[in-house]
Amino acid sequence: MSELKRLGFLASGRGSNLQAIIDACEKNELDATPVLVISNNPNAQALQRGADHGLATVYLSRQTHPDAHELDREMSRTFRKHDVDLVILAGYMKKIGPELLAAYPSRVINIHPSLLPRYGGQGMYGMYIHEAVIAAGDEETGVTIHLVNDEYDRGKILAQCPVRVEPGDDAATLASRVLEVEHRFYVEVLEKIINGEICLPE
Ligand code: GRF
Repeated sequence: MSELKRLGFLASGRGSNLQAIIDACEKNELDATPVLVISNNPNAQALQRGADHGLATVYLSRQTHPDAHELDREMSRTFRKHDVDLVILAGYMKKIGPELLAAYPSRVINIHPSLLPRYGGQGMYGMYIHEAVIAAGDEETGVTIHLVNDEYDRGKILAQCPVRVEPGDDAATLASRVLEVEHRFYVEVLEKIINGEICLPE
């Protein structure tokens, strides 16, 4: 597999997963260089976090590019311009267009705070997921890292990490425990992808 060292990110909000990955790279726990954050939200904390650590930051949305194909094309061009090898979704709330998927085949990955295929798909994000887990009375939830395709949360699963639902958990306590696992697990799985332990399809 060719090297997957230059990391590009798509993020819409808080960017705590982005931060965990940047920190791991800065501490040499991850042998990679984060280079670019693209956001569809000009006020995303993720853009500020990227800028604070010297990453290029770009705002691209239907406001900047009303035509969906143009937006998709510009996104691919921007990742290419920065020589990004691997596109990492970190709380990105939009679908990925065909041009970007074609430019980065099996090289776009996402993290989702449930054990997919449970609690995935359109509308299943943020607290909705954890509320549904609690409402169902599940004893276990978790984190999934998967390849991205043209359907929400349906790409090939690369790795999963279970998280126990404790008696007395509500959606908020569960969400914060799952998020902590996400930060650690995203870095661990990325390390395995970068060192070839987890093989992305060619
Ligand atoms: C995380 O729970 C991630 O799994 C999901 O969106 C959330 C993003 O959080 N895709 P943050 O922006 O990384 O803090």
